[in-house]
Order: sequence, then structure tokens, then C-alpha cells
Amino acid sequence: MSTTAIFSRITGTGSYLPGQPVSNDDLVARGIDTSDQWIVERTGIRFRHFAEAHVTASDLALEASLRALEAAGRVADEIDLIILATSTPDFIFPSSAALLQSRLGIRTGAPAFDVQAVCSGFAYALTVADKFIRSGSHKCALVVGAEVFSRILDWNDRGTCVLFGDGAGAVVLEASSDPGILATALHADGSYSNLLSVPGQVSCGQVTGVPFLQMDGQAVFKVAVKVLAEVAHEVLAAAGMQAEQIDWLIPHQANIRIMNATAKKLGLPAEKIIVTVDRHGNTSAASIPLALDHAVRAGTIKRGEVLLFEGVGGGFTWGAALLRF
Ligand code: UT7
Repeated sequence: MSTTAIFSRITGTGSYLPGQPVSNDDLVARGIDTSDQWIVERTGIRFRHFAEAHVTASDLALEASLRALEAAGRVADEIDLIILATSTPDFIFPSSAALLQSRLGIRTGAPAFDVQAVCSGFAYALTVADKFIRSGSHKCALVVGAEVFSRILDWNDRGTCVLFGDGAGAVVLEASSDPGILATALHADGSYSNLLSVPGQVSCGQVTGVPFLQMDGQAVFKVAVKVLAEVAHEVLAAAGMQAEQIDWLIPHQANIRIMNATAKKLGLPAEKIIVTVDRHGNTSAASIPLALDHAVRAGTIKRGEVLLFEGVGGGFTWGAALLRF
């Protein structure tokens, strides 16, 4: 008896950015000791979006998910798995994935859970969803990255508060006889946990520790460039492919210098990088699906092209997915 291999394939993308773009000069006008020139030269960031105080990660996730479902031609009840990557969930619990499931009106009992891998969150969530689908247990997953990093920024720390923004991106990932996702790889090294963290807790009704993002930017930069190149080669080798076969590199959108350095290490021209960091800032787990959706809707990325997603972030965590779109 022969069995047909099951692959997973992205059938629809969606994204959502809250409010109006906030420029670097807007941050200066708000009293932050910075300049448009410094931010653009060091990071490539020109704008970011911030959610209003009452808007949560699941609110952003809902808008992105509805757009992804529409693009895939699916209705919510056809989703049999929700994985939502976030480091800024609505609550300690329930998960933002469960809240999203409720807001989508799904009453089928399909599993829904959050993944916490900071800026690698989408690579982690997509990899987990791919494994569920390849196992045959699930057929139609909603994979989301949604963040409100504005809630955890220290506005007195100019080294971090100018870097991040809010937003969400989503994909519908479906079982398919054709790939789809060709290879994935995930890694973590907790010995780097102090380089990028929000070392705060809620305990006995009090916030203890530091509930703001802290980062050793230069150290993060160096680790990021090293591990992104390694994990890119790892997924290429796993798929038996060469870097030249990549049509589009969609790295985590943290810093244009890191993105360019990664492309250079792979021997890819800068024109093959999908760049949204200039308009979105660093939206952590949302950055890859946001960039993907913007490039798909702009007609830049076309069906059949080979994409490499790669993320790196707090933990330290990092990961990559190589796929045919
Ligand atoms: O998403 C997770 C992954 N995160 C990342 O990938 C971030 C990785 N790191 C970076 O992107 C960069 O390290 C930063 C953009 C965060 C910083 O760039 P840098 O070139 O490493 O700058 P630096 O931290 O070494 O600071 C250089 C100077 C300092 O002044 P002095 O000491 O040389 O006088 C800072 O005080 O720039 C100053 N500075 C600023 N000046 C104006 C730091 N932040 C700012 C600012 N505006 N916002």
C-alpha cells in the first residue's frame, strides 16, 4: 500500500497595522532625545505604528486573520488549529489564541495556543503548524504573529524605544500534496537570555522586576548576524537547495544592517530582501507575516516562488523556514 506524503502550504496571507504611521520626527516631538538621521542610519526605520491603549494583540490578530481567511477562500469554521505567536499577549491567561478563536466565532473545539519565542515567534509557530499538518492530524491552520510592543517600551531608553512598533500578520496553512514548506529549523540558547528581555513579573498583585524591554543592542546584533546565516544554510541543506534558488528573503525586520549582512553572507543581492522595517519598525513576532502579506498584496511575491523566512530574538531563539509559495 502506498501512502502519499502530506505537505503544508500557505494558501492565504493577511496583516493589520493600527492607527497612523508615527515618524521619527514625531518621536522627537514627543520629547525623545533622538533624531531622524540617527534612527535611519543605524536601523533603516522611518515609521512605526502604535495601537491605542485599549487595543490588544488579539484585536490586531483578528483583523489580520480575517484578511488571511478571505485571501485563502476559507471561512473561520474550516480552521482546525490556531497558533498565535506573541510576547505581548492580552492577558497572562487565557491565551490570545483562545481569545482569537472566540472572536472568530469558532465553536468546533479546535486547539488554539500561544507560542512565546519573541522575534522568532512566527518561525516557531509556522514550524509547529507544519509538523501538525504533516502528521495528518490537522488540515487547515491559522498561524498568526501579533504584538503590541508599545506596551513594554521604556520611553526613557532611547536605545530601544525608537526601534519597535505594533502590528499583526497571519497565514492560512493547509495540507497539500505539493510542498509548500520545504524545510524548517528552530534553535534556542538560553545562556543569552540576559541580552534581550523584559525581566518583570506579576506576583501577588504587584509588578516586580522590570516590566520594560531591555537590550544589549550590539551583542544582539552580533549574535543575530551569526545565527541567521547558520540557520539559513541549515534549511537550504535540508531541502537540498542552493542560496541562488531563493527568490525572496524575508528576514525578521529589526534592522536593515542585520538584514543586509545576512543577505551578503548568503551571497544574495539586497534586491532579493523584502523590506518593511522602514515603514513598520520592529514588530517582533508579527514582522515576517506582515512583510510577507505586504509583498504578496503589492504583487512582488508571486505563487511558485521560493521564500526564506528567518527570525531571531529574545531567549535567545532563532529559526528559519524555506518554502515554495
Ligand atoms: O528583534 C530582536 C533583535 N533585535 C535586534 O536585532 C537589534 C540589534 N541591535 C541593533 O539593531 C543596534 O545595536 C541598535 C540599533 C540597537 C543600536 O545601534 P548601535 O550602532 O549598536 O548603537 P549603540 O547602541 O552602540 O549606540 C551608539 C551611540 C551611543 O552614543 P555614544 O555612547 O557613542 O555617545 C548611544 O547613546 O548612539 C547613541 N544612541 C542614540 N542616539 C540617538 C543610542 N540610541 C540612540 C537614539 N538616538 N535613539
